[in-house]
Amino acid sequence: MSDELNSKIEATIAVLHQAAREFTQVVFASSLGAEDMVLTDLIARHRPDISVFSLDTGRLPKETYDLIQEVEQRYAIPLQVYFPDSALVEEYVAQHGINGFYDSVENRKGCCYVRKVEPLRRALKGADAWITGMRRDQAVTRGTLEVSSFDADNGLQKFNPLLDWSHNDVWAYIRQHDVPYNKLHDQFYPSLGCAPCTRSITPGEDIRAGRWWWENPESKECGLHVQSATGQSPVALRVSVEGNVGSEAHDVSRNQNPANKECGLHVRSTSLKASRERIIEIAANTKQEVSA
Ligand code: ADX
Ligand code: SF4
Repeated sequence: MSDELNSKIEATIAVLHQAAREFTQVVFASSLGAEDMVLTDLIARHRPDISVFSLDTGRLPKETYDLIQEVEQRYAIPLQVYFPDSALVEEYVAQHGINGFYDSVENRKGCCYVRKVEPLRRALKGADAWITGMRRDQAVTRGTLEVSSFDADNGLQKFNPLLDWSHNDVWAYIRQHDVPYNKLHDQFYPSLGCAPCTRSITPGEDIRAGRWWWENPESKECGLHVQSATGQSPVALRVSVEGNVGSEAHDVSRNQNPANKECGLHVRSTSLKASRERIIEIAANTKQEVSA
């Protein structure tokens, strides 16, 4: 391993120990993605007082569940799994349909709110710091992140210890330490989320291009973007990914608005706020109905 990577590893271990020293209850949010597997391995090896949780949205790929089991067998640290509130999921599905997240950015963020953001709030309850596996070069939305900053939305400190790691650093660590990883990474899924919202990418595409790939109101411009990034026409790309997405409706030429490519765990948006308000309203109504 290069000296540069070794010093990044040392710096990351130092951040983990610092977080555990300075804060009373520190939790690490693991999506089981490659970055999060590096952090899991470091936490298991160096034992800072940090507990690990994951949000099971109910729509994860089979390979992610396989990895959860592998992690539980390999590491002696517990992995707490949080699930969405069933009443909220039922209400969302009743209103928008089982795959309603394809219909609009707002519906998609509503689904992410119900299945990820609301469970995250519960997972962070009582903690005074949390840790993520985000890297600066993953997305335009992440360029200004800091290793440690106050997360005002959630009301606690947030650490991003892998911020300066590159994609290659992550994979060098995984290979070197034989860290378990999601088998979908071997099938051109560099960034993973829920099964219906993740497709594989083709050479030259952005590593998060497979996340919520259908989202973009300005389809024409984005078709050009896809074309220039890959040297392939949008039609050729559509054909090449059809096997992965299972439906022509999910047209990859309507692709790539990087600013949208967040689920709400780390950014706030007005549509997310609207979703949250709607969900709070639904939750209040549900409680009233149950107690009536
Ligand atoms: S996101 O858009 O889904 O938030 P990404 O998959 O790149 O982005 O994950 C960034 C970080 O958010 C992960 O390193 C992890 O800390 C946290 N995260 C994302 N999804 C989950 C999940 N399902 N469970 C726990 N943490 C998650
Ligand atoms: Fe729903 Fe897709 Fe968000 Fe998963 S990634 S919570 S399925 S919209």
